[in-house]
Amino acid sequence: MTVTDERAGAAAPASTTPLLDVRDLHVEFHTRDGVARAVNGVNYSVRAGETLAVLGESGSGKSVTAQTVMGILDMPPGRITHGEILFQGEDMLKMSAEQRRRIRGRKIAMIFQDALSSLNPVLSVGYQLGEMFRVHQGMSRKQARAKAIELMDRVRIPAAKDRIGDYPHQFSGGMRQRIMIAMALALEPDLIIADEPTTALDVTVQAQVMDLLA
Ligand SMILES: Nc1ncnc2c1ncn2[C@@H]1O[C@H](COP(=O)(O)OP(=O)(O)OP(=O)(O)O)[C@@H](O)[C@H]1O
Ligand SMILES: [Mg+2]
Repeated sequence: MTVTDERAGAAAPASTTPLLDVRDLHVEFHTRDGVARAVNGVNYSVRAGETLAVLGESGSGKSVTAQTVMGILDMPPGRITHGEILFQGEDMLKMSAEQRRRIRGRKIAMIFQDALSSLNPVLSVGYQLGEMFRVHQGMSRKQARAKAIELMDRVRIPAAKDRIGDYPHQFSGGMRQRIMIAMALALEPDLIIADEPTTALDVTVQAQVMDLLA
């Protein structure tokens, strides 16, 4: 796996603490067939305003690294055997569950490859977007609805106001991916981790989604 560092945008001066600093991370899986060493000493850091791309062949541990940072690694079978994950200088692996939840809920957001399996099929997208504001910011239903429409506009979903009550399956793949981006942006996180956010889309839509993310 290769880590490519594109120091673009409003990069902070080199002296400031990175937003995220992954140090010598090792993750393994204990399965019936033995131990799979999925991540072996990954190092990277991301500063505010930077975009970092992680490249590597299938199975090289990109998703497992992302899941570990996000705190959604299945443990067991997964095990973090070594390393540090510093968020704004503090090791998330040493924090209390509550501290970690606060960071992972509000400061880091993740976008997955497959929006259909990440969105709840029986709830409208407006409800799911609004829920972020109701749960995390204590907004009323009405306020949350207005914020949800604003977000859908922001990711350029046409006629957001009329589509707020629609369910995930009523949107195209590209539009669903935009809804995922809207959700990730909702609480204005400091860091967004995107794990192949466009793989399921055709090339033109991929370009649009990448533009939107940038
Ligand atoms: N829940 C799990 N249980 C057992 N092994 C797992 C689990 N999740 C991932 N692995 C293993 O960890 C290794 C790294 O997988 P990972 O999904 O991180 O690869 P990747 O780099 O994201 O690949 P791709 O480009 O195909 O998405 C693989 O060998 C995979 O089989
Ligand atoms: Mg992957």
